Amino acid sequence: MENKHPADPQLLDEGDPALDPRAFRRALGQFATGVTVITTATADGPVAITANSFSSVSLDPPLVLWSLRKQSRNLPAVQGAPHFAINVLAADQIALSNRFSRSTDDKFGNCDWIPGLGGCPLFAGVAAQFECRHVSAHDGGDHMIFIGHVERYRWFDRASLLFAQGRYALALDHPSAPSDLTVDAAAHPRDDFFLPLLVRAYSYLSGAFDEHRDTEGLDTNQTRVLAFLATRSGASAEVIARLAFLGVSAVEDAIAKLVGMGCVAPRPPGALAITQEGLDRLNRITARAHAFEEQHLAGLDVNDVAATRRVLLALAKRDGS
Ligand SMILES: Cc1cc2nc3c(=O)[nH]c(=O)nc-3n(C[C@H](O)[C@H](O)[C@H](O)COP(=O)(O)O)c2cc1C
Repeated sequence: MENKHPADPQLLDEGDPALDPRAFRRALGQFATGVTVITTATADGPVAITANSFSSVSLDPPLVLWSLRKQSRNLPAVQGAPHFAINVLAADQIALSNRFSRSTDDKFGNCDWIPGLGGCPLFAGVAAQFECRHVSAHDGGDHMIFIGHVERYRWFDRASLLFAQGRYALALDHPSAPSDLTVDAAAHPRDDFFLPLLVRAYSYLSGAFDEHRDTEGLDTNQTRVLAFLATRSGASAEVIARLAFLGVSAVEDAIAKLVGMGCVAPRPPGALAITQEGLDRLNRITARAHAFEEQHLAGLDVNDVAATRRVLLALAKRDGS
């Protein structure tokens, strides 16, 4: 007999993974992970792959695992290598993650690295590194699972990059979790840093704006993809993922939904364009965003708001995208 769960109005989807692998992947995306770049050395040069399947396995002996899809062009290199290194990315290393999640011949380009154990590339600016001896490989369906024995590790005083719900994210202390930093978080000097302040402000505003996206039948990723296509028609899913700071699978999911809703039309080969329906929906969201901003900025000094807008714009322009 089928298991019946009590009705939950927030249930988004459920079912048999075999019937809709994309939906299954979205459910898996609810599990937040870090982001790593896993490297190895071969006779033909260095290899690096962005992976969030990394996990610790055992403390004694010190073992870790990760999995690589069998279709990866790098599978033979990893299988044959006696070592691999795990570079755990820091919060400001999205570019490194994007660089090594692409399937190209020259992933390294002018990227700096130093050789670690077995010649495996180690990158600067990471949150942690684990240099491993490759101890075993196991079949895992459409992936191979690799187990490494950690020979050397190092970690740094840097925030980690996270990946959750198909997009990059940052870790925030949970307000209800006991913190050993200080009881009065508002008075703590860490609060002066731009990054945590921006994240907190973003989290508040984005959460409050959700109801407007819901009303227009769009989620955050779909809105970002539409906004991107409105100014850069003809982009591919991979370009959108890179420039909109989203994972390729999140963009593909968003596009599949947007095409179904008639908001985006595939323009072969591999290019996408926003439709009139997409533009209309985006315009309605934009109108809502204007009203929303007015409402949430009401009561703040207009000069402060103007100065903040200038600072945010200047910082955004440095990103160059
Ligand atoms: C955040 C993120 C996590 C990823 N995690 C994995 C993973 O754990 N295993 C995997 O096989 N691919 C993963 N990928 C995709 C690979 O990075 C990508 O398919 C690979 O680098 C493509 O190059 P290749 O075909 O040359 O291997 C991930 C991509 C991103 C953006």
